[in-house]
Amino acid sequence: MTDVVTGNDDGERDWDLSTKDGWFAMVGAAPRTRPPARSIAELAAMGAGERRRFDQARAGWHANLGPIRTPQVDAVLDGLDEIVGSNQHDGDKVKPAAVLDAAPGLGKTTAAVAFARRFHREQIDLHGDRAGAVGGSWQRVPVAYLPLTSSTTMRSLNALLCRFYGLPAATRGSATHLAHRAAEAVAGCKTRLIVVDDVHFLDMSRHDGREVANHFKWLANTFPVTFVFVGVGLGARGLLAEGLTGADGAFSQTARRWTVLHLGSFEIGTEPGRRTWRALLLTIEQNLALARPHRGVLSQDLSDYLFARSSGHFASLMSLIGRGCYRAIKDGSETLSIDLLDAVRIDQAAETARKHLTAALDAGLLTTTAATNTRPGREGAA
Ligand SMILES: Nc1ncnc2c1ncn2[C@@H]1O[C@H](COP(=O)(O)OP(=O)(O)OP(=O)(O)O)[C@@H](O)[C@H]1O
Ligand SMILES: [Mg+2]
Repeated sequence: MTDVVTGNDDGERDWDLSTKDGWFAMVGAAPRTRPPARSIAELAAMGAGERRRFDQARAGWHANLGPIRTPQVDAVLDGLDEIVGSNQHDGDKVKPAAVLDAAPGLGKTTAAVAFARRFHREQIDLHGDRAGAVGGSWQRVPVAYLPLTSSTTMRSLNALLCRFYGLPAATRGSATHLAHRAAEAVAGCKTRLIVVDDVHFLDMSRHDGREVANHFKWLANTFPVTFVFVGVGLGARGLLAEGLTGADGAFSQTARRWTVLHLGSFEIGTEPGRRTWRALLLTIEQNLALARPHRGVLSQDLSDYLFARSSGHFASLMSLIGRGCYRAIKDGSETLSIDLLDAVRIDQAAETARKHLTAALDAGLLTTTAATNTRPGREGAA
């Protein structure tokens, strides 16, 4: 139901993507709607309850801006589309997998989930929401999302899969029994895409890790499923290399079928990089729900500052913006400024990098200023 104060029906979106129900809730949710623009005078005229709800809606909005489509995000989405879309091999052929490998906080999960969400919708549109014969008895579940945890074993992996599909007693039984049930669900629900997130938790120097990698290979061999592996430093960890493959070499065989996609941080060392950065800030600025926004507040006035604070990392930038907006609403300033943002602390890695970047920007060795006009990035569901 639409809230008359905030103009939206967002409610709480505390879904758990590692369960089918949570995944479906996310896929089916309408895009968030921006709270309506209100002037300072209109804010002052609101009753206390109305104001609290309005500010709550604005905090939710600012904390969930995006996903914003940058050129890098677009390249990853296109790459995934090509790999997954062309994977129409017959059942007896192994499907190549995609790997999204990048440093922390650059938007890997956001991009992979955005792609999988779109893929899910397309599959349901194409084939309907039941699997099997007409009116089949299985629910179609085009995508499974598996966030790995440290020390993933065959048993815990298959328990994770069973839990995703909502199978009863998902943690009971032997590893083989769980694997059998999970495989049955993958086949019965016609799952076509499995996103395995935080793959860096697989330790290929251990028997457990190699066994799980073999199991992925077996699943891709047996079912028409494409895997998208997402993680940090997978190349550097040897997860993509040959040689670290255990006795049977199965993993190197798998690695040969992996296509690696990367996401980098934003950079301001080149003209296109500076343009992308400022276009991103312009998109964010246009989406702020503050009562005193002004054109250029982020993309011009704060462009250098925001780069220094975030070192061009999506996660650091967005948490700085989200927390800054929260503070600007709370203290009534209703706009972002250096003074206000200076009081906001974000992740330690960004705080550490900030000193060097600020020095370089102050000395004129770096700049975010682009020579030509910026074009806004595209915002919205990918
Ligand atoms: N395309 C995007 N548009 C808007 N915000 C984004 C986008 N990508 C990332 N973010 C912001 O960065 C945060 C971190 O993104 P995400 O979790 O996707 O990164 P990650 O690379 O998977 O990080 P980790 O390595 O910690 O798993 C998100 O919560 C969001 O605030
Ligand atoms: Mg992630």
